[in-house]
Amino acid sequence: MEFGFNSNFFYYFEKNYHTNNGDKMKILITGAGSNIGFETGIKLGKLNHLVYLTVHHDYEVDTVLEKVKELKLDNNIKCFKLDITNESDRKKIRKLDIDCLINNAAIGVGGSMLEIPIDLMKENFEVNVFSTLRLTQIYLGHLFANNKKGKVIFTSSIAGIIPISFLGSYCATKASLITIATVLKREIKLLTNNIQVKLIEPGIYNTGFNDIMLENKLERKSSYFDDLESISLKQKKLFELMGHDDLDSITKKVVEAVLDNSNKFLYRAPLLQVIMTKLYMLFFK
Ligand SMILES: NC(=O)c1ccc[n+]([C@@H]2O[C@H](COP(=O)([O-])OP(=O)(O)OC[C@H]3O[C@@H](n4cnc5c(N)ncnc54)[C@H](OP(=O)(O)O)[C@@H]3O)[C@@H](O)[C@H]2O)c1
Repeated sequence: MEFGFNSNFFYYFEKNYHTNNGDKMKILITGAGSNIGFETGIKLGKLNHLVYLTVHHDYEVDTVLEKVKELKLDNNIKCFKLDITNESDRKKIRKLDIDCLINNAAIGVGGSMLEIPIDLMKENFEVNVFSTLRLTQIYLGHLFANNKKGKVIFTSSIAGIIPISFLGSYCATKASLITIATVLKREIKLLTNNIQVKLIEPGIYNTGFNDIMLENKLERKSSYFDDLESISLKQKKLFELMGHDDLDSITKKVVEAVLDNSNKFLYRAPLLQVIMTKLYMLFFK
């Protein structure tokens, strides 16, 4: 046992995986207890890849495993706790020899740029940007040290391209991820062709993630306060109107990014919001 982590379990799983599945991929997804991360993992498991659905908290593990068992995917899908902000949790991935890391975990902090407490913004960057990059560096370090092929996928957002008022912190983290993924891809290309970097930019999906972010700014005092409630309500309505309930379009894109070994870098969905983003970039950038 190292880092408080049961390595025997993974040794057993790895051994069986190799003998039974030949060249199938091993994929690790962060923040995969629900929604986009979870559903992507299910799709990949159904394609007979070996998937590590990792979750923020210990208490999520059993629920995820029950769902996986109901779907009869427990041979292909495993679950364990990986809080990406926790150093010893991050180190767990060294043992797993994964072929693809999907950085999906994130939080959203709302609030005006004028007033947002910097500590909250730091927390937003700590999860979405710094911890994501730290985990990625561990994974890439393992690939380089062992001269292995691999792939790293970052989940940004169209909010990283189109900034939204009162959600500036979240938008800034997602814009940072676009820059980080772009630069990382170029830098890695100078060293090897064996490692791919890909970027996902989902549009709005009604997973509850946005609601939390739209609401948490109201918990704090603000000079916008009276206006802020009505702004939040309007934003919520707009998000609901534009948002998709069905995650199929975006999870298909993530699966495509995992399986696609071409040089394609950017994967976006849903279509209408992709068109809107392109129009925005044409006229406003
Ligand atoms: N839904 C959208 O409209 C939308 C649009 C664009 C981009 N995205 C991006 O898509 C990704 C998935 O979002 P989603 O909509 O599927 O919402 P979600 O289910 O809330 O996904 C976010 C996940 O990250 C986990 N997480 C938070 N902090 C973590 C940490 N320190 N370590 C590990 N996991 C952590 C959350 O776990 P807990 O809930 O247990 O804390 C949650 O499972 C996110 O990167 C999000 O920014 C979503």
